[in-house]
Amino acid sequence: MKQIVISNKIFYLGTNDRKKSLFENNWPLPNGVSYNSYLINDTKSALVDTLEFGSKDDYLDQISLILENKKLDYLIVNHMEPDHSSMIGILLKFYPSLKIVSNIKAFKMLEAYFGLSEENFLEVKDGDLLDLGYHKLSFHLTPWVHWPETMMTFDTTDQVLFSCDAFGSFGTLDGGIFDDEINFDRYEDEMRRYYSNIVGKYSNMVQKAFTKLQDLDIKIICPSHGPVWRSNPLKAVELYDKWSKHESVDGVVIAFASMYGNTEKMADFVARLIAERGIKEIKIFDVSKTHVSYILSDIWKYKSVILGSCAYNSGMHPMMEHLCHELSVINPKGKNYALFGSYSWNGGGLKSLLTFSDKMSWNKIAEPVELMGAPNSIKMSGFQEIADKII
Ligand code: FEO
Repeated sequence: MKQIVISNKIFYLGTNDRKKSLFENNWPLPNGVSYNSYLINDTKSALVDTLEFGSKDDYLDQISLILENKKLDYLIVNHMEPDHSSMIGILLKFYPSLKIVSNIKAFKMLEAYFGLSEENFLEVKDGDLLDLGYHKLSFHLTPWVHWPETMMTFDTTDQVLFSCDAFGSFGTLDGGIFDDEINFDRYEDEMRRYYSNIVGKYSNMVQKAFTKLQDLDIKIICPSHGPVWRSNPLKAVELYDKWSKHESVDGVVIAFASMYGNTEKMADFVARLIAERGIKEIKIFDVSKTHVSYILSDIWKYKSVILGSCAYNSGMHPMMEHLCHELSVINPKGKNYALFGSYSWNGGGLKSLLTFSDKMSWNKIAEPVELMGAPNSIKMSGFQEIADKII
């Protein structure tokens, strides 16, 4: 393959993972994912992050091809999660004198993962510089975007930001590597799903990172997943800014759990009422059918949420419990919400949803609707208020 040049002496060395079905063994990858690594072939050479182990069998060959068999001087570890770090062990066998450039928190993990010690490390602190020759790199600690040791590296010469997970996306790079080579419409949903699933919990830390990086004049953003932003890096920044501020768009997510169809009828009923009032963006999810990853992503996107569950062992349905657990973890803020439930004997579905909603910083828009047995228009009359208030 022809070498992919990011900027002067900076090369893309990423790969696509189309085999893995679950990222972190949790989040579906129907469109795969890319792991991006970057090699700076300067007077001193530096690799910026590695790949998931086994994802690119000619990775070391490509490094030595670009370096023309010179040694690799530095490995910059922006993030220790193994999708970026699990090639470090093998890299050190190949380049034993390699210095690992990172921060003190990462070194503790490097010791734990690879048994490394001080002589392997070059510690950097916030704002430190590393002179490679043509390129002068600065380091910026951005904890919790996405792990506590996370940092970003900025090439002050060509103004390239190596942002690791930040500005990343699910989805493989199918020929197009750069934002001007792809149809971004294909990536936006996957980028938001990645954000909400992986980074969203740490949104306040994303905002802190923005504050820290605001004086950098960034021309190119090189994340560790998804497209490289060389034409319009502002677009990636704007999206992450919007999502991390919990800004949402008009629309309603209705997620329900139903065993025998009665709670589903309630979901369809309230959706119809809302549609009659002119709202076009309505998404209904059966939590037993759609992976929580997609529901979280749409809840992050839209302003309003309606959750409904049948009673199940005197609580909510286990699949709704899973959604509520994930919502309480990733904590999307500022949602308008309403609840509903159904039961056959002593209830529990709505009661558990109320306990969940008490813990969220959301705005209740109307009283919940609960009914016993099969729904009818009288039992569901409370949905009129929910639909009115959603408007
Ligand atoms: Fe792509 Fe947090 O690792």
